[in-house]
Amino acid sequence: MFEGLELIAADAILGLMAAFRADADKHKVDLGIGVYRNDHGDTPVLGAVRRAEEALIGEQTTKSYVGPAGNPGFNAEMEKLVFGPAHPTLQAGRIKTVQTPGGCGALRLGADLVRLSSPGAVVHVSDPTWANHVPLLSGAGLKLERYPYFDAATGAVQFGPMLAALEKLPPRAVVLLHASCHNPTGADLSQDEWREVLALVRRRRLLPFIDMAYQGLGDGLEPDAFGIRLLAAELPELVCAVSCSKNFGLYRERVGALHVITETPKAADAVLSQLVKLGRGMWSMPPDHGAEIVRRILCDQPLRTLWEEEVGAMRRRIQHLRHEFVGQLKAHCPQRDFGFIERQKGMFSFLGVTTPQVHALRSEHHIYMTDDSRINIAGLRRENLEAVAAAVAQVLKR
Ligand code: LMR
Repeated sequence: MFEGLELIAADAILGLMAAFRADADKHKVDLGIGVYRNDHGDTPVLGAVRRAEEALIGEQTTKSYVGPAGNPGFNAEMEKLVFGPAHPTLQAGRIKTVQTPGGCGALRLGADLVRLSSPGAVVHVSDPTWANHVPLLSGAGLKLERYPYFDAATGAVQFGPMLAALEKLPPRAVVLLHASCHNPTGADLSQDEWREVLALVRRRRLLPFIDMAYQGLGDGLEPDAFGIRLLAAELPELVCAVSCSKNFGLYRERVGALHVITETPKAADAVLSQLVKLGRGMWSMPPDHGAEIVRRILCDQPLRTLWEEEVGAMRRRIQHLRHEFVGQLKAHCPQRDFGFIERQKGMFSFLGVTTPQVHALRSEHHIYMTDDSRINIAGLRRENLEAVAAAVAQVLKR
């Protein structure tokens, strides 16, 4: 049965994580996998998470199943967090939510729903997009195409070409958009650009599929959800995959949600029934532990306040590192403008060096980033900012 299988290389991001762990160098720097780190290089359990988890362990009386759509309290709280508690579409009962194993589970479930509703649908993803979007969406049987997105010369979104490409899509084409903190580029749509995207998808009758994995780590919990909330208020249909990995630091617990907006309550009920069936065929029921932690944090005002402070501290640290790193790069590589790093949002930016230069940074300086030079800004530390900038300057000389 298995003799014909080929050995394949590890996923680029996960392979890098393993290579970093295997490196015994004391000064190694991990700018690879998208995991938030503090100034000691650690990814600690958030204080709000720890307190919610301790209470949960003390109070939980059963480990019996919760249900195929997941934790109802978590789903209700996530709807309010993502869309805002007073969102008209939420109040109209047009949003259905299913808890999923991480944002990946939500992306896969959403893709399965699209395929079921529209066999042969094509999903248009930004060029570039998060590497794992490709297997997650195409694994559900969807064809993928790319629309222009990132302008490497300016470090910003090439909005004109993006709109021109979307303008040519046929009705019912699916467009995957990143809500904020675009992975891998850090280049986000402005609020005016979101408004233009809205006008276009409405006119062309496209289906937006929004991925929000970093709410709170760009400009704030509210501004990072601007695009989702705008489209949700104005469009008849929308699919949103949301992750709690980064903003709650719950990576390994696999906590996420899929929100689907339909035009009518009848379609909403049908969608929910289909999502439950699809999920049943993949994971049966989602894991509860992390979702219950999130529910407790969002429902309890002191815990919620603590969590919002902790998300704010993560965001401000990333913004500060962006600023400081650009300063160091300016000092070490004055011939090159790295100012775009400060204008970009969230955990990622492309450093803009070549793959051989990335490999030299890894083998000679123990600095790890993906081959396309994506760096996780949160992996930088005050104490190594200068060394990393100096190493970049060295490899740029080649
Ligand atoms: C990343 O992009 O590094 C993160 O989203 C982690 C992952 O699973 O790839």
